[in-house]
Amino acid sequence: MTVPEHVAIIMDGNGRWAKQRGLPRTMGHRKGVDAVRETVRAAGDIGVKYLTLFAFSSENWRRPETEVSDLLGLLKAFIRRDLAELHRQNVRVKIIGDRHSLQNDILDLLIDAEETTKANTALTLIIAFNYGARDEIARAMASLARDVEQGRLRSQDITPALITARLDTSGIPDPDLIIRTSGEERLSNFLLWQAAYSEFIFIPDYWPDFSRETFHAALETFASRNRRFGGLVAEAAAAVGT
Ligand code: FPP
Repeated sequence: MTVPEHVAIIMDGNGRWAKQRGLPRTMGHRKGVDAVRETVRAAGDIGVKYLTLFAFSSENWRRPETEVSDLLGLLKAFIRRDLAELHRQNVRVKIIGDRHSLQNDILDLLIDAEETTKANTALTLIIAFNYGARDEIARAMASLARDVEQGRLRSQDITPALITARLDTSGIPDPDLIIRTSGEERLSNFLLWQAAYSEFIFIPDYWPDFSRETFHAALETFASRNRRFGGLVAEAAAAVGT
């Protein structure tokens, strides 16, 4: 089976999972963290090299304050409790998203997770936090514009590869597969640039029900797809530099 090198997941449906059971939304997020653990393990076991999880979008701040603080609390608790185990599993943690406006406590934790695991070589777990793709692209453009202003770069030398290298995902291959749970079928400002040639799989299950089995079934569907990258055969991948 062809295992995708990079899988990115929009973990959707925590709230609906809880509502269906008459539970508070926060219980859905809590169960969602269990699904995160299982998915990280499954990805490492099957040989996925990069796993990106959409944990908190730049738009999620619009949710009620209690839910925002629950989500931040769960992410902090995950890093505090699971970092040693991730490190033991040889997982490298990387954070993407806008770091500038984050509170110091969470920023310190995220930086510590990256620093502690930076030499690990098995799975790279990319956590998209305070992430929005348009914001990421705008920050990359601003950085290129600064180089042009200061004479380090000529505008005619700006290429797709140069833009790719300024994104938060610099050095990480584009996702081969993007999965979204909960039956919603949209990208919601996630990895817009990087998704140019990604395969999409939409799963009806809510995120807390996502399991190793669901993951394997998605990988089998992916393996049966014929990727052409705009050409006629899969080898055309080389031509787009993926
Ligand atoms: C979508 O469900 C899920 C989120 C907005 C957050 C996902 C976060 C976690 C699973 C926990 C923390 C993450 C990590 C990496 C430890 P929703 O609330 O939008 O569900 P709904 O659409 O049914 O309301």
